[in-house]
Amino acid sequence: MKPLDQLVQQEGAIQDRSIYWDNDVYQAEMEHIFARCWLFLTHDSIIPEKGDYQVTTMGEDNVIVARQADGSLKAFLNSCTHRGNFVCFSEAGNTRSFVCPYHGWSFGIDGSLQDVPLEKQAYHQEIDKTALGLRQIRVASYKGLIFGTFDESAPPLEKYLGGMAWYLDSFLDVPGGIELIGPPMKSTLECNWKNPSENFIGDGYHVGWAHASALEIAGGSLASMKGLNEYDKNSGLQISLPEGHGFGAIWECVAALHPGPPGVAYQQWVDQRSPAVKEIVGEQREKFYRAHWNATIFPNCSFLYGTNTFKVWQPRGPHSIEVTTWTMVEKEMPKELKDMIHADNMLTFGTAGILESDDGENFENCTNSNRGHSTRQGTVYLGMGQGHERQEAGLPGIVSDGWVNETSTRGMYRRWAEMMSGKSWDNLSTTADLENNQ
Ligand code: FES
Ligand SMILES: [Fe+2]
Repeated sequence: MKPLDQLVQQEGAIQDRSIYWDNDVYQAEMEHIFARCWLFLTHDSIIPEKGDYQVTTMGEDNVIVARQADGSLKAFLNSCTHRGNFVCFSEAGNTRSFVCPYHGWSFGIDGSLQDVPLEKQAYHQEIDKTALGLRQIRVASYKGLIFGTFDESAPPLEKYLGGMAWYLDSFLDVPGGIELIGPPMKSTLECNWKNPSENFIGDGYHVGWAHASALEIAGGSLASMKGLNEYDKNSGLQISLPEGHGFGAIWECVAALHPGPPGVAYQQWVDQRSPAVKEIVGEQREKFYRAHWNATIFPNCSFLYGTNTFKVWQPRGPHSIEVTTWTMVEKEMPKELKDMIHADNMLTFGTAGILESDDGENFENCTNSNRGHSTRQGTVYLGMGQGHERQEAGLPGIVSDGWVNETSTRGMYRRWAEMMSGKSWDNLSTTADLENNQ
């Protein structure tokens, strides 16, 4: 691996292409990023009842998160402590125990080892079951969003989210909160995990170009972007948080990608809810509630608020990811509206969605061009708007005018480099430090 200061240069504006291809970089990411960060697992609405569980991955580690009898959550590795087999082969469900198919060890929904076949005869009753539970993982929920981390020294989840939590509250704090509609769709893309994370955190630039045909079909307020013909930089902004999270917002655009009657119904819902939301989150964040967002929670959880797609990009080696896609809705929306929004999400960002296909092809090609030895010696450039960022009273993080910008993308790579350096959590940048230095 090249020295870190060569991998990301000029405050996140330049990336060495090896970071999208080399296995040694990927393995270092697994150690310094995926084994340390809070990673999105699932949502409260997916596992509401005692015994409900979801199987997912953190990096490439297979994990189970399960609702306990007292309503709390536990997460543990999906790997038997006897010889390592998976103890659960379904992606989700409800159970009282996980029984390993190899020799029949059985684990409770809290991961503890309950029963061992032939315990008396073959183990002479000497096996210490309390020491052989499934390996526990720290788990926490932020207003229904459930995350896990392998790192005991990681800060509490809310601190990890930093200033992003304040923005997320714009829609997490609506009466009833949000829910994810599952089971999620799964697909594979042959790209590096950072390509989609960087796209969702801050690539407003590609919308008018890569999605030109789709915009023509969708119409609505984004249609003028088609072919990158027209752009008003007062139409939105970008936010970058020192913790690596970030997003772009387009004002008054929440239902832009819900063409036809669903868009009308969604806009009506937002209009009707806005006064109550304003009461709860204040005027500034009501504006975010009515905006369309493209966002990434560092490192690999992305969503489009307004287009209602919610995704995790699960790394599967340096050149491959598994994409998990849910639909995000407000819990109190009428069922017909939820169904329409879900159908729209399938149309746009489902596995075969018209926008997903445009993006997926670009992500794969951005990764695969680096297969070439000589190509891989070069760099790529994210300098748009650099030097024009600012801090703004009342808005956490770094702010840029215009949602066509690369401020939040640079922020993601700054954090990537910071974490790859192996610094302790105490020495990593935070929103609070940024505000204190203002
Ligand atoms: S590997 Fe699970 S019981 Fe033996
Ligand atoms: Fe896109």
